[in-house]
Amino acid sequence: MDKKSILFQLAFLQFLSGFLTFNSMNVQIRCLQIERKVLLDFKQGLTDPSGRLSSWVGEECCQWDGLTCNNLTGHVIKLDLRNPLQSDEAGHQESALRGKINSSLLYLEYLDYLDLSLNDFEGSQIPGFIGSFRSLNYLNLSHAKFGGTIPPLLGNMSSLHFLDLHAFSDSDHLLNAKDLHWLTGLSSLEYLDLGGIDLGSVVNWLDVVNMLPSLLELRLQDCNLQNLPHSLPFVNFTSLSVIDLSRNLFNSPMPAWLFNITNLEDIPFSASNLTGPLPNTLTNIISLQHLDLSDQFLEGQNRFWGSLPETIGSLSSLEAISMFGNPTNGSIPESMGQLSKLIVMNFGQTLWKGTISERHFLNITRLENLEISSTSLKKSLNFNVGSQWNPPFKLKSIILAHIQAGPMFPEWVQTQNDLTRLFLNDIEISSTLPDWFWSWCSQHIDDLDLAHNQIRGTLPRSLHFHYEANVYLISNSSGALCQCGLTCAAFIFGEILFRV
Ligand SMILES: *[C@@H]1O[C@H](CO)[C@@H](O)[C@H](O)[C@H]1NC(C)=O
Ligand SMILES: *[C@@H]1O[C@H](CO)[C@@H](O)[C@H](O)[C@H]1NC(C)=O
Ligand SMILES: *[C@@H]1O[C@H](CO)[C@@H](O)[C@H](O)[C@H]1NC(C)=O
Ligand SMILES: *[C@@H]1O[C@H](CO)[C@@H](O)[C@H](O)[C@H]1NC(C)=O
Ligand SMILES: *[C@@H]1O[C@H](CO)[C@@H](O)[C@H](O)[C@H]1NC(C)=O
Ligand SMILES: *[C@@H]1O[C@H](CO)[C@@H](O)[C@H](O)[C@H]1NC(C)=O
Repeated sequence: MDKKSILFQLAFLQFLSGFLTFNSMNVQIRCLQIERKVLLDFKQGLTDPSGRLSSWVGEECCQWDGLTCNNLTGHVIKLDLRNPLQSDEAGHQESALRGKINSSLLYLEYLDYLDLSLNDFEGSQIPGFIGSFRSLNYLNLSHAKFGGTIPPLLGNMSSLHFLDLHAFSDSDHLLNAKDLHWLTGLSSLEYLDLGGIDLGSVVNWLDVVNMLPSLLELRLQDCNLQNLPHSLPFVNFTSLSVIDLSRNLFNSPMPAWLFNITNLEDIPFSASNLTGPLPNTLTNIISLQHLDLSDQFLEGQNRFWGSLPETIGSLSSLEAISMFGNPTNGSIPESMGQLSKLIVMNFGQTLWKGTISERHFLNITRLENLEISSTSLKKSLNFNVGSQWNPPFKLKSIILAHIQAGPMFPEWVQTQNDLTRLFLNDIEISSTLPDWFWSWCSQHIDDLDLAHNQIRGTLPRSLHFHYEANVYLISNSSGALCQCGLTCAAFIFGEILFRV
């Protein structure tokens, strides 16, 4: 082939691809007139203060904002009118659609996806006719201020894979359900979120969700649930990867059936009012990534006690563990050190006993946040590592408080070059600060708390922190704090706060 014919062939190919591009851009999706009329009726029923539906004019409804048509048949398949602004963003109220959902919408019989989330339906009922959308795959009515009782007719959407009705929990449980039996009609359901809905009078919620074998994510946060059956005759929903039962009113131990769902990645059980010893079977759930049994909200007192199971080290996917606020009064086994994926270890405000040694951190190379503090005055936990310890991790935040970690200052802190927060409060340090401390500190730390120790020595005459830093040193033996050349910027409840 000579050069000329190659050039000719290239030109021809270029022409061809240009032609194809041109042609596919010209594919006209035609909007069906009946569906266009239905959409205009639907628009008519709504108030739209910010003009979000202003493109809804003219013939070609497939081009209107929020709409998607099937590109072969022209049927509307997707209606996405989610408020673009989150509830805490300025302008959220103005951009919310209000008003009434016209039942003629049902004529969109190929609708596959409906999202009306974050709008404001002013406490009105979820229209029961929505249940007649037989091809709907995705329904999102979350945070849309619907009220009253959920219509059981929603159980007719047998194609539904995603159902999100999550309600604002600060709106005093506007939505409720007396019975959930209708859910069993949703046999394809993979994702269910009924968070913030008052399910307090539903007794058999667990039997109902156990009839949904395809469920992958179950979210029942803040539902006023009280009944958490300890056993189930048979666990059906073994594919579940997330089960969120946080902020409910259970007053029971962790249920036994939970440990048969071996695919679980996440158990957010924070503030669920659970009690009892930490079960050994917890470590059956080997895919677990996040174990949150904390009580951060201080409203539904989780009260787990006892020791961490010896087998904790087998949770090889675990990235975060939080027992914050629990009266865990047993010990932490050394097998903890095998959790090589762990990033967050939060044992704040607990009652652990015994010793934590270097072996407890043996393979924890990814740890970024370490918090261990006690609510007991006895300091029954001893953080005992060698003075030459070179930890395998690079922490960003260390909080150690009300435990025994002295008498020497923990020299290993110097190896932590990514650290920005260092709290060593009331851990019985009675040595002097090492020579490297203040210059190292001024390069890395913007939150420092060494209060309630017996650290001796004097502060340097001048200190220059890289950033604006908070420094708390109250109740140490370092002498008269204000004679050290620093500016005492503020006194907060008797503590001296330097802003350098
Ligand atoms: C038609 O839609 C399908 C599925 O949404 C898409 O994959 C395909 O590229 C579209 N075809 C044209 C010509 O736009
Ligand atoms: C439903 O909408 C909310 C708010 O717009 C969103 O955060 C959530 O992820 C959606 N749910 C699903 C299942 O996509
Ligand atoms: C719901 O489904 C049932 C059983 O398939 C049917 O008898 C009933 O008419 C349906 N209701 C609506 C409103 O579609
Ligand atoms: C398990 O799920 C199937 C399918 O929904 C259902 O027929 C069966 O009754 C369920 N078993 C239990 C014990 O709930
Ligand atoms: C949980 O799993 C164990 C071991 O596989 C099995 O013997 C038991 O019957 C299961 N329990 C339930 C409630 O499914
Ligand atoms: C831990 O607390 C539980 C519940 O208060 C108590 O029954 C148990 O004896 C305590 N165990 C230890 C070792 O203190």
